[in-house]
Amino acid sequence: MTSDDWVEVAEMIHVSLNYWYASKGDGPKLKCGPEHVQLHCQVNEALDPGRCLVAEMDSTGRLAACCFYHPRERHVSLGIMVAHPNYFGTGAAKAILGEVIAFAEKEEKPLRLVSSAMNLDSFSLYNRAGFVPYAMFQDMLIDVPSEGLDLPEIEGVEVRTGRVEDAPAMAALEREISGIERESDFRHFLENREDIWHVSVTEDASGGLNGFLCSVTHPGCSLIGPGVSRNDQQAAGLLRVVLNHEPGRTRVWLAPCDKTELVQTCYSWGARNCELHTAQVLGEKYNISGVIMPTFMPETW
Ligand SMILES: CC(C)(COP(=O)(O)OP(=O)(O)OC[C@H]1O[C@@H](n2cnc3c(N)ncnc32)[C@H](O)[C@@H]1OP(=O)(O)O)[C@@H](O)C(=O)NCCC(=O)NCCS
Repeated sequence: MTSDDWVEVAEMIHVSLNYWYASKGDGPKLKCGPEHVQLHCQVNEALDPGRCLVAEMDSTGRLAACCFYHPRERHVSLGIMVAHPNYFGTGAAKAILGEVIAFAEKEEKPLRLVSSAMNLDSFSLYNRAGFVPYAMFQDMLIDVPSEGLDLPEIEGVEVRTGRVEDAPAMAALEREISGIERESDFRHFLENREDIWHVSVTEDASGGLNGFLCSVTHPGCSLIGPGVSRNDQQAAGLLRVVLNHEPGRTRVWLAPCDKTELVQTCYSWGARNCELHTAQVLGEKYNISGVIMPTFMPETW
Protein backbone atom coordinates (compact mmCIF):
# COMPACT_ATOMS: atom_id res chain seq x y z
CA MET A 1 0.00 0.00 0.00
CA THR A 2 1.20 3.49 -0.79
CA SER A 3 -0.42 6.70 0.48
CA ASP A 4 -2.24 6.87 -2.90
CA ASP A 5 -4.09 3.69 -1.87
CA TRP A 6 -5.42 5.03 1.48
CA VAL A 7 -8.78 6.14 0.09
CA GLU A 8 -9.40 2.82 -1.68
CA VAL A 9 -8.10 0.72 1.24
CA ALA A 10 -10.33 2.63 3.69
CA GLU A 11 -13.34 2.22 1.37
CA MET A 12 -12.58 -1.50 1.12
CA ILE A 13 -12.37 -1.96 4.91
CA HIS A 14 -15.62 0.00 5.33
CA VAL A 15 -17.64 -1.82 2.65
CA SER A 16 -16.20 -5.24 3.52
CA LEU A 17 -17.07 -5.15 7.22
CA ASN A 18 -20.43 -3.45 6.66
CA TYR A 19 -21.45 -5.79 3.82
CA TRP A 20 -20.42 -8.90 5.75
CA TYR A 21 -22.20 -7.91 8.97
CA ALA A 22 -25.28 -6.61 7.06
CA SER A 23 -25.65 -9.85 5.09
CA LYS A 24 -24.46 -12.45 7.61
CA GLY A 25 -24.37 -10.69 10.97
CA ASP A 26 -26.48 -8.25 12.95
CA GLY A 27 -26.16 -5.22 10.68
CA PRO A 28 -23.42 -2.85 9.44
CA LYS A 29 -20.49 -2.62 11.87
CA LEU A 30 -18.98 0.77 11.05
CA LYS A 31 -21.39 3.61 11.70
CA CYS A 32 -18.95 6.34 10.59
CA GLY A 33 -18.34 7.39 6.98
CA PRO A 34 -15.52 5.66 5.01
CA GLU A 35 -13.32 8.78 5.21
CA HIS A 36 -12.85 8.17 8.95
CA VAL A 37 -11.66 4.61 8.32
CA GLN A 38 -8.47 6.07 6.84
CA LEU A 39 -7.41 6.29 10.50
CA HIS A 40 -6.42 2.60 10.22
CA CYS A 41 -4.06 3.46 7.33
CA GLN A 42 -2.68 6.47 9.20
CA VAL A 43 -2.00 4.65 12.50
CA ASN A 44 -0.71 1.41 11.01
CA GLU A 45 1.53 3.28 8.58
CA ALA A 46 2.90 5.45 11.41
CA LEU A 47 3.74 2.35 13.47
CA ASP A 48 4.90 0.08 10.65
CA PRO A 49 5.60 1.91 7.40
CA GLY A 50 5.11 -0.27 4.33
CA ARG A 51 3.54 -3.19 6.21
CA CYS A 52 0.18 -3.33 4.46
CA LEU A 53 -0.24 -5.86 1.67
CA VAL A 54 -2.89 -5.43 -1.02
CA ALA A 55 -4.07 -7.89 -3.66
CA GLU A 56 -5.06 -6.48 -7.03
CA MET A 57 -7.38 -8.34 -9.42
CA ASP A 58 -5.87 -8.93 -12.87
CA SER A 59 -9.34 -8.85 -14.41
CA THR A 60 -10.34 -5.36 -13.14
CA GLY A 61 -7.16 -3.73 -11.82
CA ARG A 62 -9.08 -3.00 -8.57
CA LEU A 63 -7.99 -3.84 -5.03
CA ALA A 64 -9.52 -7.17 -3.95
CA ALA A 65 -8.10 -7.58 -0.41
CA CYS A 66 -5.73 -6.00 2.09
CA CYS A 67 -4.03 -6.84 5.37
CA PHE A 68 -1.78 -5.02 7.83
CA TYR A 69 1.00 -6.87 9.66
CA HIS A 70 3.37 -5.89 12.45
CA PRO A 71 6.77 -7.44 13.22
CA ARG A 72 7.59 -7.10 16.92
CA GLU A 73 10.45 -8.31 19.18
CA ARG A 74 8.95 -11.74 19.94
CA HIS A 75 6.05 -12.16 17.50
CA VAL A 76 4.45 -10.99 14.29
CA SER A 77 0.89 -9.73 14.51
CA LEU A 78 -1.64 -9.82 11.70
CA GLY A 79 -4.01 -6.84 11.73
CA ILE A 80 -7.15 -6.02 9.82
CA MET A 81 -7.72 -8.49 6.97
CA VAL A 82 -10.54 -7.75 4.55
CA ALA A 83 -11.61 -8.75 1.06
CA HIS A 84 -13.81 -6.53 -1.09
CA PRO A 85 -17.32 -8.10 -1.21
CA ASN A 86 -17.05 -8.35 -5.01
CA TYR A 87 -14.09 -10.64 -4.47
CA PHE A 88 -15.19 -12.72 -1.46
CA GLY A 89 -14.22 -16.35 -2.02
CA THR A 90 -11.76 -15.64 -4.83
CA GLY A 91 -8.63 -16.59 -2.88
CA ALA A 92 -7.33 -12.98 -2.66
CA ALA A 93 -7.38 -12.97 1.17
CA LYS A 94 -5.74 -16.39 1.25
CA ALA A 95 -2.95 -15.18 -1.08
CA ILE A 96 -2.15 -12.27 1.25
CA LEU A 97 -2.29 -14.52 4.31
CA GLY A 98 0.26 -16.82 2.63
CA GLU A 99 2.65 -13.87 2.22
CA VAL A 100 2.37 -12.87 5.88
CA ILE A 101 2.88 -16.47 7.02
CA ALA A 102 6.01 -16.71 4.86
CA PHE A 103 7.27 -13.44 6.44
CA ALA A 104 6.70 -14.75 10.01
CA GLU A 105 8.40 -18.05 9.16
CA LYS A 106 11.42 -16.18 7.82
CA GLU A 107 11.52 -14.11 11.03
CA GLU A 108 11.17 -17.37 13.03
CA LYS A 109 8.42 -15.84 15.17
CA PRO A 110 4.88 -16.92 16.02
CA LEU A 111 2.16 -15.21 13.96
CA ARG A 112 -0.75 -13.96 16.09
CA LEU A 113 -4.13 -12.44 15.42
CA VAL A 114 -7.51 -11.77 17.03
CA SER A 115 -10.41 -12.86 14.85
CA SER A 116 -14.18 -12.90 15.12
CA ALA A 117 -15.65 -16.09 16.54
CA MET A 118 -18.99 -15.19 14.91
CA ASN A 119 -17.54 -14.87 11.41
CA LEU A 120 -17.05 -18.37 9.98
CA ASP A 121 -15.42 -17.04 6.79
CA SER A 122 -12.71 -15.40 8.85
CA PHE A 123 -12.31 -18.36 11.23
CA SER A 124 -12.05 -20.78 8.29
CA LEU A 125 -9.50 -18.67 6.43
CA TYR A 126 -7.12 -18.81 9.41
CA ASN A 127 -8.01 -22.31 10.58
CA ARG A 128 -7.23 -23.84 7.19
CA ALA A 129 -3.82 -22.15 7.35
CA GLY A 130 -3.12 -23.86 10.70
CA PHE A 131 -3.98 -21.15 13.26
CA VAL A 132 -5.14 -22.42 16.66
CA PRO A 133 -7.44 -20.41 18.98
CA TYR A 134 -6.18 -20.19 22.57
CA ALA A 135 -8.10 -17.36 24.28
CA MET A 136 -11.65 -16.11 24.01
CA PHE A 137 -12.88 -12.52 24.40
CA GLN A 138 -16.31 -10.95 24.56
CA ASP A 139 -16.65 -7.51 22.99
CA MET A 140 -18.55 -5.41 25.53
CA LEU A 141 -20.30 -2.12 24.80
CA ILE A 142 -21.59 0.80 26.85
CA ASP A 143 -23.19 4.04 25.65
CA VAL A 144 -21.48 6.58 27.91
CA PRO A 145 -23.74 9.63 28.41
CA SER A 146 -22.17 13.08 28.01
CA GLU A 147 -22.24 13.61 31.79
CA GLY A 148 -20.28 10.35 32.25
CA LEU A 149 -21.10 7.14 34.12
CA ASP A 150 -21.44 7.14 37.89
CA LEU A 151 -19.51 3.95 38.62
CA PRO A 152 -18.54 2.77 42.11
CA GLU A 153 -14.87 3.01 43.00
CA ILE A 154 -12.79 -0.16 42.81
CA GLU A 155 -11.20 -0.48 46.22
CA GLY A 156 -7.42 -0.35 46.35
CA VAL A 157 -6.90 0.66 42.71
CA GLU A 158 -5.44 4.12 42.14
CA VAL A 159 -5.27 5.22 38.52
CA ARG A 160 -3.23 8.01 36.97
CA THR A 161 -2.66 9.23 33.40
CA GLY A 162 0.29 7.58 31.65
CA ARG A 163 3.50 9.51 30.89
CA VAL A 164 6.06 8.91 28.11
CA GLU A 165 8.50 7.59 30.77
CA ASP A 166 6.01 4.74 31.46
CA ALA A 167 6.64 3.07 28.07
CA PRO A 168 9.47 0.72 29.23
CA ALA A 169 7.51 -0.35 32.35
CA MET A 170 4.38 -0.98 30.24
CA ALA A 171 6.40 -3.14 27.83
CA ALA A 172 8.01 -5.05 30.71
CA LEU A 173 4.64 -5.68 32.37
CA GLU A 174 3.10 -6.94 29.14
CA ARG A 175 6.07 -9.23 28.54
CA GLU A 176 5.68 -10.64 32.05
CA ILE A 177 1.91 -11.15 31.68
CA SER A 178 1.54 -12.28 28.07
CA GLY A 179 5.02 -12.93 26.69
CA ILE A 180 5.11 -10.28 23.96
CA GLU A 181 6.98 -6.98 23.73
CA ARG A 182 6.05 -3.74 21.92
CA GLU A 183 7.51 -0.71 23.68
CA SER A 184 7.49 1.40 20.49
CA ASP A 185 3.68 1.06 20.26
CA PHE A 186 3.25 2.29 23.83
CA ARG A 187 5.62 5.19 23.21
CA HIS A 188 3.49 6.11 20.19
CA PHE A 189 0.27 6.19 22.26
CA LEU A 190 1.92 8.14 25.08
CA GLU A 191 3.47 10.72 22.75
CA ASN A 192 -0.01 11.08 21.18
CA ARG A 193 1.02 13.07 18.10
CA GLU A 194 -2.33 12.20 16.48
CA ASP A 195 -4.16 13.64 19.50
CA ILE A 196 -6.45 10.58 19.73
CA TRP A 197 -4.80 8.37 22.38
CA HIS A 198 -5.23 8.18 26.11
CA VAL A 199 -3.28 5.95 28.50
CA SER A 200 -4.16 5.18 32.12
CA VAL A 201 -1.86 3.25 34.46
CA THR A 202 -2.06 1.83 37.96
CA GLU A 203 1.07 1.52 40.09
CA ASP A 204 2.24 -1.08 42.59
CA ALA A 205 3.55 -0.18 46.07
CA SER A 206 7.10 0.39 44.82
CA GLY A 207 6.13 2.69 41.91
CA GLY A 208 6.22 -0.08 39.26
CA LEU A 209 3.12 -0.85 37.21
CA ASN A 210 0.31 -3.26 38.04
CA GLY A 211 -1.58 -2.46 34.86
CA PHE A 212 -2.31 -0.04 32.05
CA LEU A 213 -5.14 0.59 29.63
CA CYS A 214 -5.02 2.61 26.41
CA SER A 215 -7.94 3.97 24.41
CA VAL A 216 -8.61 5.86 21.21
CA THR A 217 -11.16 8.63 20.65
CA HIS A 218 -11.85 9.47 17.01
CA PRO A 219 -15.00 9.65 14.83
CA GLY A 220 -13.84 6.39 13.18
CA CYS A 221 -13.04 4.51 16.39
CA SER A 222 -13.84 4.60 20.11
CA LEU A 223 -12.16 1.35 21.12
CA ILE A 224 -10.65 0.75 24.54
CA GLY A 225 -7.39 -1.23 24.59
CA PRO A 226 -4.75 -2.46 24.49
CA GLY A 227 -4.28 -3.10 28.17
CA VAL A 228 -2.88 -5.61 30.62
CA SER A 229 -3.11 -5.91 34.37
CA ARG A 230 -2.14 -8.39 37.02
CA ASN A 231 -5.70 -9.06 38.20
CA ASP A 232 -9.41 -8.41 37.55
CA GLN A 233 -9.76 -5.57 40.08
CA GLN A 234 -6.94 -3.58 38.51
CA ALA A 235 -8.46 -4.11 35.05
CA ALA A 236 -11.87 -2.94 36.34
CA GLY A 237 -10.31 0.07 38.10
CA LEU A 238 -8.56 1.13 34.88
CA LEU A 239 -11.67 0.54 32.76
CA ARG A 240 -13.81 2.60 35.17
CA VAL A 241 -11.54 5.61 34.63
CA VAL A 242 -11.08 5.14 30.88
CA LEU A 243 -14.86 4.87 30.29
CA ASN A 244 -15.28 8.37 31.67
CA HIS A 245 -12.45 9.83 29.61
CA GLU A 246 -14.15 11.98 26.93
CA PRO A 247 -17.71 10.76 27.66
CA GLY A 248 -20.68 11.05 25.30
CA ARG A 249 -19.80 8.17 23.01
CA THR A 250 -20.24 4.42 22.63
CA ARG A 251 -17.25 2.52 24.01
CA VAL A 252 -16.29 -1.04 23.09
CA TRP A 253 -13.61 -3.23 24.69
CA LEU A 254 -12.57 -6.88 24.59
CA ALA A 255 -12.87 -8.62 27.96
CA PRO A 256 -11.32 -12.08 28.45
CA CYS A 257 -14.27 -14.50 28.86
CA ASP A 258 -12.48 -16.39 31.65
CA LYS A 259 -12.02 -13.27 33.82
CA THR A 260 -15.37 -13.68 35.57
CA GLU A 261 -14.93 -10.93 38.16
CA LEU A 262 -14.08 -8.34 35.51
CA VAL A 263 -16.90 -9.48 33.21
CA GLN A 264 -19.48 -9.42 36.03
CA THR A 265 -18.33 -5.95 37.07
CA CYS A 266 -18.84 -4.78 33.48
CA TYR A 267 -22.38 -6.24 33.48
CA SER A 268 -23.11 -4.44 36.75
CA TRP A 269 -22.19 -1.17 34.99
CA GLY A 270 -24.72 -1.92 32.19
CA ALA A 271 -22.33 -3.34 29.56
CA ARG A 272 -23.77 -5.57 26.80
CA ASN A 273 -22.02 -8.12 24.58
CA CYS A 274 -21.77 -7.22 20.90
CA GLU A 275 -19.26 -9.72 19.40
CA LEU A 276 -16.97 -12.61 20.27
CA HIS A 277 -13.31 -12.85 19.32
CA THR A 278 -10.61 -15.50 19.68
CA ALA A 279 -6.89 -14.96 19.95
CA GLN A 280 -5.19 -17.34 17.55
CA VAL A 281 -1.61 -18.30 16.88
CA LEU A 282 0.42 -20.07 14.25
CA GLY A 283 3.47 -21.27 16.14
CA GLU A 284 4.43 -20.92 19.79
CA LYS A 285 1.70 -19.76 22.16
CA TYR A 286 2.80 -17.71 25.18
CA ASN A 287 1.14 -18.33 28.53
CA ILE A 288 -1.07 -15.57 29.91
CA SER A 289 -0.74 -14.90 33.63
CA GLY A 290 -3.07 -11.91 34.10
CA VAL A 291 -5.78 -9.91 32.32
CA ILE A 292 -5.21 -8.91 28.71
CA MET A 293 -7.44 -6.60 26.68
CA PRO A 294 -6.48 -6.51 22.99
CA THR A 295 -7.83 -4.06 20.41
CA PHE A 296 -8.03 -3.53 16.64
CA MET A 297 -6.60 0.00 16.71
CA PRO A 298 -3.84 -0.97 16.20
CA GLU A 299 -3.93 -4.77 16.16
CA THR A 300 -0.36 -5.42 17.22
CA TRP A 301 -1.13 -7.98 19.93
C1 LIG B 1 -12.78 -12.93 6.24
C2 LIG B 1 -12.59 -12.72 4.76
C3 LIG B 1 -11.35 -11.85 4.54
C4 LIG B 1 -12.38 -14.06 4.10
O1 LIG B 1 -12.21 -13.82 2.72
P1 LIG B 1 -12.47 -14.91 1.60
O2 LIG B 1 -12.67 -14.17 0.34
O3 LIG B 1 -13.55 -15.85 2.03
O4 LIG B 1 -11.10 -15.68 1.59
P2 LIG B 1 -10.47 -16.61 0.46
O5 LIG B 1 -11.45 -16.91 -0.61
O6 LIG B 1 -9.19 -15.98 0.01
O7 LIG B 1 -10.06 -17.93 1.29
C5 LIG B 1 -10.98 -18.54 2.15
C6 LIG B 1 -10.51 -19.94 2.50
O8 LIG B 1 -11.32 -20.45 3.56
C7 LIG B 1 -12.03 -21.61 3.11
N1 LIG B 1 -13.36 -21.65 3.71
C8 LIG B 1 -14.34 -20.71 3.60
N2 LIG B 1 -15.41 -21.12 4.31
C9 LIG B 1 -15.09 -22.33 4.83
C10 LIG B 1 -15.78 -23.26 5.65
N3 LIG B 1 -17.02 -23.02 6.08
N4 LIG B 1 -15.13 -24.37 6.06
C11 LIG B 1 -13.86 -24.62 5.66
N5 LIG B 1 -13.15 -23.78 4.86
C12 LIG B 1 -13.78 -22.66 4.45
C13 LIG B 1 -12.07 -21.45 1.60
O9 LIG B 1 -12.31 -22.68 0.99
C14 LIG B 1 -10.68 -20.89 1.33
O10 LIG B 1 -9.66 -21.86 1.49
P3 LIG B 1 -9.20 -22.81 0.25
O11 LIG B 1 -8.88 -21.88 -0.88
O12 LIG B 1 -8.00 -23.52 0.82
O13 LIG B 1 -10.33 -23.71 -0.06
C15 LIG B 1 -13.84 -12.06 4.10
O14 LIG B 1 -14.99 -12.86 4.37
C16 LIG B 1 -14.10 -10.66 4.62
O15 LIG B 1 -13.46 -9.72 4.16
N6 LIG B 1 -15.06 -10.51 5.57
C17 LIG B 1 -15.43 -9.22 6.11
C18 LIG B 1 -14.30 -8.60 6.89
C19 LIG B 1 -13.85 -9.51 8.01
O16 LIG B 1 -14.67 -10.09 8.68
N7 LIG B 1 -12.52 -9.60 8.21
C20 LIG B 1 -11.96 -10.41 9.27
C21 LIG B 1 -12.04 -9.70 10.58
S1 LIG B 1 -11.72 -10.80 11.95
